[in-house]
Amino acid sequence: MSGFTAFLAAAEAAGLLRRVVGRVDPGFEPGCFVKWMYQGLPESQRFGFLFTDVAGSAMPLGTAVLGASPASYALALGVEPAAVNDRWEQALLAPRPVRVVATAPCQEVVHTGAAADLSRLPIPVWTPGRDAAPYITTVTVNRGTGAGHDYQNQGVYRTQVRDPRHVIVNLAPGRQGHGLARTWLDQGRPAPIAWVIGAEPAVYLAAVANLPPGVDELTVAGGLLGHPVDVVKAVTSDLLVPANAAIIIEGEVLPGQLAMEGPFGESAGYMSEPGLRPVARITAITHRHDPVYYGLASQMPPSESTTLQSLSNAALIRKLLRHDWGEPGVRDCWIDAMFGGGAAHLVVSLETTGPGHARRVGRLLAERTPLKRITLVDPDIDVRDRTDLDWVMSSHFDPARDTEIIGGFPAPMDHAVTPDAGGRKLGSKLVIDATRSLATGPVSLPPADLMERARTAWSAVGLPDPGAADRLWRRLGRPAGK
Ligand SMILES: Cc1cc2nc3c(=O)[nH]c(=O)nc-3n(C[C@H](O)[C@H](O)[C@H](O)COP(=O)(O)O)c2cc1C
Repeated sequence: MSGFTAFLAAAEAAGLLRRVVGRVDPGFEPGCFVKWMYQGLPESQRFGFLFTDVAGSAMPLGTAVLGASPASYALALGVEPAAVNDRWEQALLAPRPVRVVATAPCQEVVHTGAAADLSRLPIPVWTPGRDAAPYITTVTVNRGTGAGHDYQNQGVYRTQVRDPRHVIVNLAPGRQGHGLARTWLDQGRPAPIAWVIGAEPAVYLAAVANLPPGVDELTVAGGLLGHPVDVVKAVTSDLLVPANAAIIIEGEVLPGQLAMEGPFGESAGYMSEPGLRPVARITAITHRHDPVYYGLASQMPPSESTTLQSLSNAALIRKLLRHDWGEPGVRDCWIDAMFGGGAAHLVVSLETTGPGHARRVGRLLAERTPLKRITLVDPDIDVRDRTDLDWVMSSHFDPARDTEIIGGFPAPMDHAVTPDAGGRKLGSKLVIDATRSLATGPVSLPPADLMERARTAWSAVGLPDPGAADRLWRRLGRPAGK
C-alpha cells in the first residue's frame, strides 16, 4: 500500500476503519474508544477510527487503523496476512535508498516561528484521567553528527506536549534515537528532530522494528514498498522527511534542558513513572492542504503499538535467523501482541537437524533479542494457530525435560522483576523446546484418502462448507487444501 490516504480508503472499504462524525473532545473519546475496541472486540472484529470533527482543530484524527489486527497490518503492507514475513524478508534483503525530491506534498502549507503552534493539531490524551498531557505518538526522525553517527534514524518515541511550542521527548538511554541526539547535545548544540504523521504505511512498519544501528528504516520501508521512499529536506533542518506525509512537525532538542515526562500509559499495561527527559522546541509545522492527523494508539495491550511491534519484529527475527544467524531451517516466526517490543512470547517453527538443535536456537534468541519466552515447534505446526500450540504443549512437551530458564538479562520495564540492592532489574528468560522428542506414530485421524471421500460425502448430504481445513491437512502431512 503506497500513500496513507489510499490506505485509509482501502481500510474503510475493507471494514477496517469506522468514521466517527459527531464532535469529539481529543482529551476524552479517542483514547477511551480505542480501549473499548481493543479490550472489547475479538481480533477478527477490530477496526481503526477516523474522528472527523475534533474540538479545537480543523484536522480529522485517525488512530488504530494500521494496527487494529494482523489483517490491518497486512493491508498496510499490501499483502495477505500469511505473506507478511515473506514481504519483510524481501525488503530486508533488498532495501531501497531514499530518493530526494525538491518539492513535496508535506510542505504545501508551512508554519514557522510563532505560527508553528501545536494547538492547531488534534493531539489526543491517550489515557484520559491518567496521562500527564496530550502525546504525539508517531514516527520520529533524527540524525547524529560526527564520524560513525552521521546517519538518519527513525523510531517511535512518545512525545509529551508541554506547551504549544515545546515538547518533552521520551528519548530513553539505549535507544538509537537517544544516542544520536547525544552526539549534538554533548557538544552543547541543539539536536535536529522531526515527527512524521501520515507517511506511507511502510514507514511506520519499518520504524517500529528493532533494526540494527546504522540501518536507515526509510531504506527498509522502500524495500517493503518495492520503490524508494521520496524524501524532502525539512524546512528548518537538514533532516530528510517523507515527502508524501500529511504533516511534519520539526524541532530541535535543546542542550541542558530536561523536564519531567509522564505519567503515560505504557504498552506493558501500567502507567510509567515520571522521569526527566529532554525538552525540544518546535521550529516548524508543515502539512498538506487537507491533512489527517494520525496517532498510534498505545497503552494496555493488545494495542496498535504492540500489534505493529509484534508483527514487524517477528518478521525481522525470521530474516535474521535464516540469513544472518545460520539457521536456514527456520520456517516461521510469530510474536504475541501483548508486549511486542520486548518481553513477549516468540514462537518459531523449524526443521531441526538433530537432538538439541531447537534448544540451541532458543538460547541464541534468548541472548540476542529482548523476548522473554521462546517456544520452538516442528515445521508442521502453524505458529499463529492457538489450537496447534495448545496441542504441542500437551502432546510433545515435557516440562522437566524441555524447559530451560536463563537469568541475568536487563529488564528495566518488566513489572514482574524485583530490583536488586543497587536498583538494577535483572530478569530471566524461558526457552521451551516443544519439538517432537520421541517417535509419535500416526496421528489419530482417518487417513487422507478417507477424509477426502468423506468431504465429498459431507457436501452430498448438504452440510455447510467446512472451510479449507488447513490444520487437518497439515496433521495428515499434506499441504493445505491438497
Ligand atoms: C506507539 C509507540 C510508542 C513507543 N514509544 C516508545 C518510547 O517512548 N520510547 C522508546 O524507547 N521506544 C518506544 N517505542 C518502541 C520503539 O519505537 C521501537 O523499539 C523502535 O524500534 C526504536 O527504534 P530505534 O531502535 O531506532 O531506537 C514505541 C513504539 C510505538 C509503536
